[in-house]
Amino acid sequence: MKNIFLVFFILLVITGCLSAQKPLTNDHIVAEGQLIYERECLACHMRDGRGVPGMIPGLLESVWLQGPNDSLIGYILTGGFGPQVQMARFDFLSNEEIAKVLTYSRLVYLNKRSIISNDEVRKVRNQIELLE
Ligand code: HEC
Repeated sequence: MKNIFLVFFILLVITGCLSAQKPLTNDHIVAEGQLIYERECLACHMRDGRGVPGMIPGLLESVWLQGPNDSLIGYILTGGFGPQVQMARFDFLSNEEIAKVLTYSRLVYLNKRSIISNDEVRKVRNQIELLE
């Protein structure tokens, strides 16, 4: 009988740890994503994500940010299309940095929780390299 309680207790501890760890890893991505956003994106898209009217689009209503992961990653890697001000390509950032900054931007500016993985960025980067 004692053993059953022990097993039960161990299971409780394990599930407790697992559920406590999940949001922690997300928070970690978001905290690092924020640092990358502040370094690479904030100067143009601003802290509130509203951009600069007439010059730089906001992220709050961005169709690219709302769109499929692949096209969003491709956009960031190859840069914008202008017409007045053209966004530079961000292919100098690592896969991990792009994954984090996009995960952060979706969460903060769209209030959408979706994790973009390093692997997804790597795949799109490889496809672009094949085309160029
Ligand atoms: C030097 C200014 C500048 C910086 C820095 C910059 N952007 Fe942009 N961004 C722009 C401009 C200008 C556009 C729109 C014009 C274009 O397509 O070239 C744009 C467009 C976008 C769009 C699409 C918006 C739409 O209309 O749907 C997204 C998403 C985006 N940027 C994300 C980012 C992220 C993430 C970073 C940081 C890694 C970043 N930008 C850094 C200037 C900038």
